Amino acid sequence: MGDNQAHFWLGLTTGIAVCSVAFSVYTGMVLHQTLTAASKSAPAQTVVSKAGPAQIQFQQDDSPSSETLERLHSMFTINSEKLNQIVKHMIVEMRKGLQADGQALLMIPSHVVNRPTGREVGSFLALDLGGTNFRVCEVVLDGHSGARVRQSKHTITDAQKHMPANELFDFFADCVRKFLIEGFVNVPRGKEEAELQARTWKLGFTFSFAVNQTAIDRGICVYMGKGFVNPGIVGSDVVVLLQEAFKRKNLNIDVQALVNDTTGTLISHAYIQPSTRVGVILGTGTNCAYVEKMENIPKYKGDDAEYAKEMIINMEWGTFDDEQVVIPRTKYDKRVDRTFNQEGKATFEKLISGMYLGEIVRFVIVDLVKNGELFLAGGSPELNEPRSFETAFMSRIERDHTLDLNDTRSVLEEMLKIPRTTLADRRLVKTLCELVGKRSARLSAAGVAAVVTKMNKLDGCTVGIDGSLFELYPHFSNRMRDALREILGISAENIVLEQARDGSGQGAALIAALANEGN
Ligand code: BGC
Repeated sequence: MGDNQAHFWLGLTTGIAVCSVAFSVYTGMVLHQTLTAASKSAPAQTVVSKAGPAQIQFQQDDSPSSETLERLHSMFTINSEKLNQIVKHMIVEMRKGLQADGQALLMIPSHVVNRPTGREVGSFLALDLGGTNFRVCEVVLDGHSGARVRQSKHTITDAQKHMPANELFDFFADCVRKFLIEGFVNVPRGKEEAELQARTWKLGFTFSFAVNQTAIDRGICVYMGKGFVNPGIVGSDVVVLLQEAFKRKNLNIDVQALVNDTTGTLISHAYIQPSTRVGVILGTGTNCAYVEKMENIPKYKGDDAEYAKEMIINMEWGTFDDEQVVIPRTKYDKRVDRTFNQEGKATFEKLISGMYLGEIVRFVIVDLVKNGELFLAGGSPELNEPRSFETAFMSRIERDHTLDLNDTRSVLEEMLKIPRTTLADRRLVKTLCELVGKRSARLSAAGVAAVVTKMNKLDGCTVGIDGSLFELYPHFSNRMRDALREILGISAENIVLEQARDGSGQGAALIAALANEGN
């Protein structure tokens, strides 16, 4: 053995010896800490360790109670059999909705009968009122499946969700006016107004609420969810409301198309992926649009029925099972239903979408605290505040893979001001978020399965999906895929779920372009 090797082995054995001493000291300390910490926290489960010759008894406060876990699991889990029943029922409801008006599923004909070729060109404005934001976009289509977009974004305040229709639409027109002026690059100062008057624009309006669409550029709003309760919108033609606001603000803008965000998503994804037949939104709200054969839409009596082969149907699937026949709902879901506007409406949406998931979790947490199953040091006024537990918190908690669930601790202790949480508390909250998040993904998958089955597209098609849940919520798309496999078996492999982007901007512009081609 040479000198260097001898040094190496000596170093190694000394290192091992030092490490093993350090390890025993460390284990002793950890055991001591565990015992002291455990003895301080009560009540907790008693665990008997069989590790040593003398059995050590200590309190374990790391795992939530199995009874509580089991109860929550059985409340929020939707098994494969139930998923299949949901799919079957949705297909029945889809058929009814295509047959006649006034059904649980509205199945609204969008009047969009063409899909884009990718060769569309031109510059269009698009307005997008979704739920959380209002956007103004200028979309320049390049004719090669590409587009340039300039946009301005405005958060919709709670006050704006309550203001009279005219005031809200005046706000939209003001945003558009400002946006257009900002876009004037070579116009001398002081000449903006003259330029504004000299020009005209074509616009696609994405209005993501239930609208009974009477033409490509006409539609009466029948229902507003997502916290909007503006007097004067439900029952009115929203294009007329917008055109009148433009007139009041001296803007020469022609609204060419009224678009639901799901239709926009389908069209904008089809622009880059021609096999797209379905558009889904999984965000603040949820909904789905798909391509239906004209002969399967007996209630549609428009002129297009004569020559068009297919039409995009805006399902408004948020109201699926409003008559409550198939989806099991917990007492917490019912509480959420009662406390948001429109009790008894939007059953499917209230179990799936971002607007509601956090509130379901909050109701469960409040109950667990009341029963002494969580946060033994008590809850907090913040936790008791309606809607204080945002769905974004669930995302953060589900993404927390630290050993001590430190990020979950920040959400609970720093943001919601819970005085003290144990690891068991944090694990329980994390499991709860997983259960509610998973149920949402599985129900969404059941919806997609129903649509592709009804379309007879099990041999393959692409589903373009947009919205914060699908894009940002951890594991959401995988959970959807798992559930699709459970429902459709091997055929699930033919259904491609793809992230779609900006259906509400680019999609609306494309639909305006398609409508313009038809003129
Ligand atoms: C609306 C739909 C919309 C969906 C997603 C629902 O609340 O009724 O029209 O497509 O939200 O934004």
